[in-house]
Amino acid sequence: MELELTNMILKNREYQRVLSQLREMEADRLFCRHDIPHFLDVARITVILCNDWGVSCDRDIVYSAALLHDIGRVQEQQCGIPHDIAGQAVADIILSDIGCPDDAKKQIIGLIASHRSASPKKSQLEQVFCEADKRSRQCYSCAAEALCNWSGDKKNHDIEV
Ligand SMILES: [Fe+2]
Repeated sequence: MELELTNMILKNREYQRVLSQLREMEADRLFCRHDIPHFLDVARITVILCNDWGVSCDRDIVYSAALLHDIGRVQEQQCGIPHDIAGQAVADIILSDIGCPDDAKKQIIGLIASHRSASPKKSQLEQVFCEADKRSRQCYSCAAEALCNWSGDKKNHDIEV
């Protein structure tokens, strides 16, 4: 199967536990949610941008990182730890649990660590993944757009990919 690690993460008990905590936490959230549709948007936009810009990527790594990149939001909300930091530790536990090879684990955790705009990037793929996370948000059709704290130049006013 092409997305072997991705589907092992999806079916992992700890992943499902954290995902349901996140779902519960964001049930009444007015702004963009951090859910499976968002994770798949990030993965698919990353693949499209990699194709357009000639950046090589392993889809299983990209989809795995996409599933995991925002799961640290539970700890961010509960303990104030930034989610890109908290998410690395949670991902490490899940990736170890599924027997993810070290090299793949390093790449996935690198994508989680660098997915925010201000985080330093070590590879072109990390830059593309961060861009895909931003582009995934549909500000042009968001009911809460006027209340959102994203600056006007960061918001997506048009459909690009
Ligand atoms: Fe995200």
